[in-house]
Parts: sequence; structure tokens; C-alpha cells
Amino acid sequence: MSAKKAGLLAGQVALITGSESGIGRETARAFCRQGAAVVLNGLQPARLEATRLALAAEGYQVAACLADVTDYAAAERLIATAIDTFGRLDILVTNASISMRAYFRDMTPEVFRQVLDSNVYGSVFPLKAALPHLVRAKGSVTFISSISALNGMPSGSAYCAGKAALANLAHTLRLELADTGVHFGVVHIGFTQNDPDKRVLDAAGQPVPIAHRSARWQKSQAEVAAIILRHVRRRKRRTVISALGQLILVVHTLLPRLGDWVVRTSQRRLRNFYE
Ligand SMILES: NC(=O)c1ccc[n+]([C@@H]2O[C@H](COP(=O)([O-])OP(=O)(O)OC[C@H]3O[C@@H](n4cnc5c(N)ncnc54)[C@H](OP(=O)(O)O)[C@@H]3O)[C@@H](O)[C@H]2O)c1
Repeated sequence: MSAKKAGLLAGQVALITGSESGIGRETARAFCRQGAAVVLNGLQPARLEATRLALAAEGYQVAACLADVTDYAAAERLIATAIDTFGRLDILVTNASISMRAYFRDMTPEVFRQVLDSNVYGSVFPLKAALPHLVRAKGSVTFISSISALNGMPSGSAYCAGKAALANLAHTLRLELADTGVHFGVVHIGFTQNDPDKRVLDAAGQPVPIAHRSARWQKSQAEVAAIILRHVRRRKRRTVISALGQLILVVHTLLPRLGDWVVRTSQRRLRNFYE
């Protein structure tokens, strides 16, 4: 069968962290449509099982592993699920993340650590456990970041710091592991529709809903999933989603003071946009 008929990812195995909901779930669906077998992951047993059942009912090859990716032993279990179920691992997308809505001066140190850990160690630990398999497959690693990591965002200190760290990590690993043939890339996501039950942490660590934002400014989860799929297929180093993301990148590089002025003066409006 031609690659087109079988799907562009036919024969490949992908693991997407935090894929029981949101962008991760739609990315899993997009990869499945292209013929990949996909390992799903998340923290909530009922939601994870519901996502697995939905994709299996669509006729896709899926497995699921309940695992907190900030726990190295759990990350090892997650990778073992891919190997034990499908025999190999070609693609890792580190998508699991906790976001926040809190100013640095108000946050407890524990909340800062929780948000940072989910974004940094939540990517590092699955990758560390998966690396031998990815090297064997000359596979692909994509860290999901945010356009807020390109310039910083008031009320997002730990989140932005964690997401920005991923870009440097990808670059360093690309240099260190150049001879392995493994792809390391980063996708900076912008305003995207959220699941209705999505929560972010406030300064005290309480989960709070995201304020409503106009659909006009947002991409759908399926659109973002298609962009992540293209990024992986083309083994791109960096994908910055949306015209706003591109604009932030240019202004941050060429006119950083202007960029800061715009963010400060439009803070209230921008506050609920990025995560
Ligand atoms: N939506 C946007 O506008 C936007 C913008 C820029 C970047 N992004 C990035 O896109 C990615 C997906 O975001 P989303 O909007 O789809 O959010 P989401 O619906 O909250 O998805 C994140 C998933 O990761 C899970 N998770 C969190 N910590 C975990 C851990 N330690 N171990 C395993 N799973 C964990 C969450 O589970 P719980 O719900 O149980 O915590 C949730 O299922 C994230 O990396 C986010 O930062 C999103």
C-alpha cells in the first residue's frame, strides 16, 4: 500500500503526554488518522479511558497509561507501555503541562515549583526514559511550548520560564545528539480553544477556570494538531503558530522595548490569552 493510502505515519508509534484532553487528544487523533499507533497519557483515569475508548471506537490503534510525567518512575512506566504494547517508539510529543494565572509576588514557592516541574521535568523525564528507543528508531521529539515563552507574560512567570527552557533544551540536545539522527523540535502554540473543564492554578495552587476569550482570536484544537503533525513530519526545529506569534518573535528580537511597552499597556486584555 502506498504511504498516502496507509497514512503518512503508518508503522510508526507515537507517545503524546497529557493527551487525555485538549490539544494532546486532538494531536493523538491526527496522528492516528495518519496510521500511527498512539500511546495516550494523563492523570485522570476516567477521562483517559474515555479518550482511549473514543479513539479505539474510531478504529485506531491506541493504548493508554495513567502516569504523572514529573515522576521519573512513572515516566519509565509510560515508555514501557509503548514498547510492551507496540514494540517500538518513533515519536515523542511532550504536551502535558500545568498553566497558571498568578503574579510572582503572590505565589507560594510550591505553586511555582509545581508549574515549572510540569513543564520542564514533565518533558525531561519521558524523554530521558524514551531516548534509547528514539535513537534506535532515529525518531522525533517535539516539545510543546507557547508563544508566551517568546517574550514573557505578566502572571505567567513559572509557566513562561518552563516553556522557554524547553527551547534551549531542544537546541542543546540537537547539538549533543546530532549524530543520532533524532529530531528535536519545539512548537510555540498561541491562542487555542480550551476544553470547558480546563483549569489553571492560582497563586495558592487552587485550580481555576480560564476566563472566556473570543473565538475570533483562537485556533481550534484540530487546527493546532494539524500544525503539530506537519512539524513532526517535516522534522522542523521550530514552529511558531499564528501571526501574533510571528509578530511577537520579530518585535522581541528587533524592538524589545516596544514589545514590553505593548505587553504592559495591554496587560489586562492579554492576561487570559496565552496559556
Ligand atoms: N490552549 C492554549 O491556548 C495553549 C496556548 C499555548 C500553549 N499551550 C500548550 O499546549 C499544551 C496542551 O494544552 P491544552 O490547552 O490542551 O491543556 P490541557 O487540556 O490542560 O491539557 C494538558 C493535559 O496535561 C495533563 N497533565 C498536566 N500535568 C501532567 C502530568 N504531570 N502528568 C501527566 N499529565 C499531565 C493535564 O491533566 P489535568 O487536566 O488532570 O491536569 C491535561 O490533560 C500544553 O503544553 C500547553 O501549555 C496551550
